[in-house]
Amino acid sequence: MLSCQKDKFSLPSDITYLNCAYRGPLMKHVEKIGWEAVSQNNDPSLINAGDFFEPFKRSQKLFAQLINAPDPNRIVLIPSSSYGLSNAANNIDLKKGDDIIILDEQFPSNYYIWERVAKERGANLKIIENPNKTLPSGELWNERILNAIDSSTKVVAIGSVHWADGTKYDLKAIRKKTDEVGAYLIIDGTQSVGALPFDVQAINPDALICSTYKWMFSPYGCGLAYYGPRFDDGTPIEESWMNRKDSHLFEKLVDYESAYKSGAMRYMVGQSSNFIVLPMLEACLKQLLEWGVEHIQSYVQSIGIDSLEVVKEAGGILASPETRADHLFGVYLPKEIDKDKLRHELKECKVIVSFRGNAIRVSPNVYNEAADFLKIAECLKAARVGTT
Ligand SMILES: Cc1ncc(COP(=O)(O)O)c(C=O)c1O
Repeated sequence: MLSCQKDKFSLPSDITYLNCAYRGPLMKHVEKIGWEAVSQNNDPSLINAGDFFEPFKRSQKLFAQLINAPDPNRIVLIPSSSYGLSNAANNIDLKKGDDIIILDEQFPSNYYIWERVAKERGANLKIIENPNKTLPSGELWNERILNAIDSSTKVVAIGSVHWADGTKYDLKAIRKKTDEVGAYLIIDGTQSVGALPFDVQAINPDALICSTYKWMFSPYGCGLAYYGPRFDDGTPIEESWMNRKDSHLFEKLVDYESAYKSGAMRYMVGQSSNFIVLPMLEACLKQLLEWGVEHIQSYVQSIGIDSLEVVKEAGGILASPETRADHLFGVYLPKEIDKDKLRHELKECKVIVSFRGNAIRVSPNVYNEAADFLKIAECLKAARVGTT
């Protein structure tokens, strides 16, 4: 069992940070690696051709291990989820009348691109509504998703959990149904990979796209994507010289090469040798593997066992544990809680969460403790209508 890892972070001692879904904090040793990487850039003569390509190979292997992907060459560096999702969406042979299934109030990076390709190709954007926006409703929502997949479905593009309240989707059942009709399954793993186990071999997504600055603690402007075999012959959204065959042969760069590197490697972002970010990302992935993602999820679950009961007694409404994640969940608010007052109380107590719809989004990680949830309970009590 993992113990609290607060000493690995530099979070200010007077705040209660329960907002990893917004941004993960840097770890102390990762910050140090970043400063060292900056200094190393003072002398470019120390950077050789191999340094452009080799460092990412280490992160590829580590991330492949993290998500149980058999081939590290299917992992690429991306600058954002919107970038990774665009590479997927642009390489699906969508035809007029095809359905693209997405979910209600999905994160915009996983909405706009589908809206655009649907418009361009005459496909239908089929949005599966959340059955109840003011209370948890994961079970019924999952049922609706499965029922919506039929022979017109070309793509299902969803998050692994809902970014605002941590509703879990039954990815195995969704994969089974998409396989039956030959549809693609594209998963935005940003809000879970790193904190909730994800197994590529068990789910077999066609693409898994993750920004890493939340649950993988990396610097901003960085992400990792997995592309399965259906994308092997696609066209990337940009034409980086680095993604062409033999791009490591610097003296031959203007013997222009028509072939991309094989498979997914064509989708790497330009300047993928980012000399400052990559050493930091690598250190984050190593730490996650050392902790073990399953242990991170059980840690955040364990700190909530008793303390979330107190949150419920104070009026907070939580989904049943089977239908939500433990690292990201909504505390829905009954009408007896004055939202503005709650906002004020949380601010006064320096408890950092996000307000999303009729819930506060609570997203703990290994630096939190049970006592942190109790502070939410205190704020809920103080925010009851009629309390002065
Ligand atoms: C589900 C989800 N996907 C992606 C992102 C980030 O998207 P991008 O990397 O395109 O900025 C967020 C940010 O909150 C998110 O919640």
